Amino acid sequence: MPFLTIQSAVEQGTALLEEGGVGAPRLTAEVLLGHALHSERAYLYAHARDELTELQWIHYGRYLNDRLKGKPTQYITRKQEFYGREFYVDERVLIPRPETEHLVEAALEFLRDQPQARVLDVGTGSGAIAVTLALETGRRVFASDISAAALEVASSNARKLGAEVAFFESDLAEAIAPGSIDLLVSNPPYVPGADQANMQREVRDWEPHVALFAGDSGLEIYRRLIDQALGAIRSGGHLLMELGFQSLEGVETMLASDWVDLAVTSDLAGWPRVICATRR
Ligand SMILES: C[S@@+](CC[C@H](N)C(=O)[O-])C[C@H]1O[C@@H](n2cnc3c(N)ncnc32)[C@H](O)[C@@H]1O
Repeated sequence: MPFLTIQSAVEQGTALLEEGGVGAPRLTAEVLLGHALHSERAYLYAHARDELTELQWIHYGRYLNDRLKGKPTQYITRKQEFYGREFYVDERVLIPRPETEHLVEAALEFLRDQPQARVLDVGTGSGAIAVTLALETGRRVFASDISAAALEVASSNARKLGAEVAFFESDLAEAIAPGSIDLLVSNPPYVPGADQANMQREVRDWEPHVALFAGDSGLEIYRRLIDQALGAIRSGGHLLMELGFQSLEGVETMLASDWVDLAVTSDLAGWPRVICATRR
């Protein structure tokens, strides 16, 4: 029995995803088919008339079905690009977001002329921030997470990408010796629990809740992290955090008494995205 050509498979997949209300249906169909064929999207155009094998057809069908059930494309393909590198991701970790590259940029700016600075990434997840900083600066970076499962993913990403990162399980920066860190970076959980009902189902039903939610206000992890950072960071050292939607005012208030030189960077959409503070 003849199987579908690549072109018809893309068209049928696109139609199914569109009907199922999935965003960017054509792109998604192409990415999923490329995954089933172990090929890049460009291959699909060059081989549009080739027929799928039975196995490719079965895999593609399964991926489409998973996506229609809400599973994010990145958890299906098991990869996400971050700062120009490919990271393995699965349901144990948050899918790194492009906005977080602003945090990396800000950290790199600090590290440019501080070759000896000791850097800690709190809540490392897939390891995207820590691994990127280690590779971009050629130094060893420390990274913590409360989730042992996330640390397995992060360690494997560091190994695969050749980054020197010392991972450890910790509740935020609790395990850190006082005054031992020069730069603490973090993209902490910051979604208010009350927002759960209105979130995209791809996020709410698939990404780890420990990576998303931070109490009723969304500020609880910031509060504890800022408290702990005060002990962990040396005087004159820096704290860099990603900001959640409408969290700036609350975070600034928490930093008011013990931190100086507060600076905020906005993302491409104009939202305050990164806050930097210096330990008094
Ligand atoms: C928003 S995700 C960020 C993941 C990754 N750094 C990134 O930017 O893609 C927050 C991470 O913080 C971790 N986390 C949550 N609560 C924590 C805690 N109390 N101590 C340490 N890590 C925590 C989660 O497991 C998750 O990996």
